[in-house]
Amino acid sequence: MLRYFVLLLAVGSVIHPSHGTEVMVKGEDDKLCLYAKLMVNFSVSYEAADNKSNSVQFELPTNVTLDGSKCEANSSTLKLNFGAGHSWSMNFTVKGNMYQADSITFSYNLNDSTVFPMSASNETVSVTVRPHITDVSMDTCYSCNSKETIEDESVNQTLWNVLIQAFVSNGTQSENMTTCAADLPTPAPTAPNTTTEAPVTNSTTPAPLPPTTPTPTLPTPATGKYTLKPDANSTACLLANFGLRVGIKQGEKYEEINLDPNVTTVSGSCGANSSELVLVSNTMTVTFVFANDTKKFRLQAMNVTAKLSSGEVFSDGNVSLSLWEASVGSSYMCNKEQNYTITRQLSAFTFDLQVQPFGVKKDVFSTAHECPLDDTGILIPIIVGAALAGLIVIVVIAYVIGRRKTYVGYQTL
Ligand SMILES: *[C@@H]1O[C@H](CO)[C@@H](O)[C@H](O)[C@H]1NC(C)=O
Ligand SMILES: *[C@@H]1O[C@H](CO)[C@@H](O)[C@H](O)[C@H]1NC(C)=O
Ligand SMILES: *[C@@H]1O[C@H](CO)[C@@H](O)[C@H](O)[C@H]1NC(C)=O
Ligand SMILES: *[C@@H]1O[C@H](CO)[C@@H](O)[C@H](O)[C@H]1NC(C)=O
Ligand SMILES: *[C@@H]1O[C@H](CO)[C@@H](O)[C@H](O)[C@H]1NC(C)=O
Ligand SMILES: *[C@@H]1O[C@H](CO)[C@@H](O)[C@H](O)[C@H]1NC(C)=O
Ligand SMILES: *[C@@H]1O[C@H](CO)[C@@H](O)[C@H](O)[C@H]1NC(C)=O
Ligand SMILES: *[C@@H]1O[C@H](CO)[C@@H](O)[C@H](O)[C@H]1NC(C)=O
Ligand SMILES: *[C@@H]1O[C@H](CO)[C@@H](O)[C@H](O)[C@H]1NC(C)=O
Ligand SMILES: *[C@@H]1O[C@H](CO)[C@@H](O)[C@H](O)[C@H]1NC(C)=O
Ligand SMILES: *[C@@H]1O[C@H](CO)[C@@H](O)[C@H](O)[C@H]1NC(C)=O
Ligand SMILES: *[C@@H]1O[C@H](CO)[C@@H](O)[C@H](O)[C@H]1NC(C)=O
Repeated sequence: MLRYFVLLLAVGSVIHPSHGTEVMVKGEDDKLCLYAKLMVNFSVSYEAADNKSNSVQFELPTNVTLDGSKCEANSSTLKLNFGAGHSWSMNFTVKGNMYQADSITFSYNLNDSTVFPMSASNETVSVTVRPHITDVSMDTCYSCNSKETIEDESVNQTLWNVLIQAFVSNGTQSENMTTCAADLPTPAPTAPNTTTEAPVTNSTTPAPLPPTTPTPTLPTPATGKYTLKPDANSTACLLANFGLRVGIKQGEKYEEINLDPNVTTVSGSCGANSSELVLVSNTMTVTFVFANDTKKFRLQAMNVTAKLSSGEVFSDGNVSLSLWEASVGSSYMCNKEQNYTITRQLSAFTFDLQVQPFGVKKDVFSTAHECPLDDTGILIPIIVGAALAGLIVIVVIAYVIGRRKTYVGYQTL
């Protein structure tokens, strides 16, 4: 907890990747007896006034109350009350040296017209389903980041990013975890999995130790050519060509995602002092903000919202960057692969980069300011320039000496 807090502090004013509803139930002795952090999405179908079937989706809010939650020696209840008379509860029981969740009861009040508009009924409906949270070792947290959807006639519930410990002993949350089968790395495809119902492993693993599966190296991302126009009928005001890959680090896990230009849509805005480029693909949304500081421009902010392979949504960004600097009216170019650390959790890799966020004329890039690493491009002109400068200095010195000699000679005569 402290570590997480410190990390957030260090990263600064960023949105943390996953929220979720976090609660702590305390027993009669005022000690923690049940901890839960989880995300739940509901999909509910109900009858509307016009005889039609309506369907709504909503999330379990973070603002809940715990009335009705209780902890006993061999059974406990987590009850989350929210909104106008809705509740979601989970019952746990001890089975030997394990515990399990026996049922989930979701009650929803159809009279709440903000959630269920035009409902024909004004009743509160309850559905009870059975989650697959079984064989959790006592004194361990049950952890499951993968999604589990539990379907019922009129309600589908999707649970993910679940971290629960029932029967907490001594008021201290356990460092040990029981991880759900869906989160474990899939073994080599040699052994076909015949069990359809994903059971929970009963092995206790010491502390958060996510699998360190090596991420396969991705191919170089394709170079996208992105053009922004103030309106359909005018010429471009912002040009950007690049291949982009983002690297996302969450705990011990690291994942890289390429931006596929073929499925990317471009939007944004051009201003005199600031321009924005927004790229949206099926896997991520990337926002670039460029600043015009009188004579020079720079990439000032970049943020990324991406869908990770776990299904989790990652969002992070930095609004105080100074990258891709060049003078206004020129473009910035870097052909080599570049690796930028945007935040602690986010890095960006660019390939064949050329951008011009201000002062674009006739839909083409202006003179390019090349990045220092493109040394073949910039070193030769520097050497040639230095040599020329040296030559000029020599010529000038020779001239001055020559003139002085003639002058001195003239005077002695
Ligand atoms: C629940 O999910 C099933 C399968 O995806 C779908 O057919 C059904 O319409 C869903 N029900 C609700 C209420 O969303
Ligand atoms: C609604 O459905 C019931 C039967 O399902 C039918 O008797 C009734 O006429 C319908 N009302 C409207 C307004 O369609
Ligand atoms: C949960 O619901 C929200 C809004 O209803 C939606 O934006 C989000 O994508 C859903 N998440 C999942 C994992 O279904
Ligand atoms: C619920 O609806 C019924 C009829 O549809 C009505 O008689 C009853 O008063 C309503 N109850 C509330 C609490 O609104
Ligand atoms: C975690 O598990 C290890 C070994 O399995 C054990 O020694 C340790 O006491 C456990 N810690 C807690 C807090 O239960
Ligand atoms: C774990 O489960 C296996 C079967 O799935 C069982 O044979 C084994 O005894 C269990 N281990 C413990 C510690 O309960
Ligand atoms: C573009 O501008 C011209 C004249 O400036 C106008 O005739 C034409 O309709 C405009 N086209 C669009 C798509 O706005
Ligand atoms: C993108 O589209 C081009 C042609 O439209 C195709 O040649 C290329 O393979 C596609 N790239 C990807 C990554 O799908
Ligand atoms: C950049 O900003 C300066 C003043 O801050 C302004 O004069 C100039 O026109 C701007 N350049 C562009 C291309 O908008
Ligand atoms: C741009 O910045 C300059 C000076 O910083 C300011 O005078 C001008 O109003 C700004 N223009 C816009 C459009 O914000
Ligand atoms: C991403 O950029 C948008 C627009 O600049 C901003 O509103 C949002 O707060 C940024 N998000 C992060 C995580 O920095
Ligand atoms: C990115 O750069 C950092 C330091 O410059 C380096 O440690 C890291 O390995 C690089 N990442 C990749 C994927 O090249």
